[in-house]
Amino acid sequence: MNGKYNASKLALSFVKDEMTIGIGSGSTVEVFLNLLGDRIKNEGLRIYGIPSSYQAMIAGAKNGIIITDLLDKEPDLCIDGADQVDSRLNCIKGGGAALTREKILAFASKKVIILVDETKLVEKLSMPVPVEVLPFAYGYVMKRLSSICKPNLREGKGKVGPIITDNGNFILDCDFGIVENPEGVDKELKVISGIVENGIFSSKLISAVIVGNNSSAKLLKH
Ligand code: A5P
Repeated sequence: MNGKYNASKLALSFVKDEMTIGIGSGSTVEVFLNLLGDRIKNEGLRIYGIPSSYQAMIAGAKNGIIITDLLDKEPDLCIDGADQVDSRLNCIKGGGAALTREKILAFASKKVIILVDETKLVEKLSMPVPVEVLPFAYGYVMKRLSSICKPNLREGKGKVGPIITDNGNFILDCDFGIVENPEGVDKELKVISGIVENGIFSSKLISAVIVGNNSSAKLLKH
């Protein structure tokens, strides 16, 4: 079995009947949802889910999760993946362009558990930071970002031009080199008007990271 499967299997033990789950996005979350779907079917559980993307909504519904929203429920637990996790459990997310709703769910949830395979672990964050930008503000935001990083408009696959997020926005992948101070970068990005959200998830937001490899999974906490 692979790391995503083993991490997902361990995460299942945190799910209890009648819970509301914030559902992150990506291939690891999809593995988790398929396993949770088996439990829902076999044990007759009632699990509510607030999805972070259309992908999460469709995969959640397919697996018997009752889809709801933040007006109706407060998530007990948020389950999500990540693109990089550093040694202090800060993360970069947004490889699937769902970072804004994922971050809202992380803030709104009582507990946040990130599932990754071991290839995502790094000493320091270093991949370009995904930044969601209002299309109207693109020109202005590019100018502001160019003085602090190398921003690159993410292009679509199966579509010409930029990818459009589930919120109708652009994604800029912003190369800061090695991110020595993730919270500092998060703050710098937050104050630029037109930026909706960015993919730095401070370790303060994260309760635990489950890391899976080919044979097992372990829980990391700070
Ligand atoms: C979605 O925008 C991302 O934040 C995902 O959580 C992240 O890209 C992990 O995706 P995988 O589980 O597919 O690697």
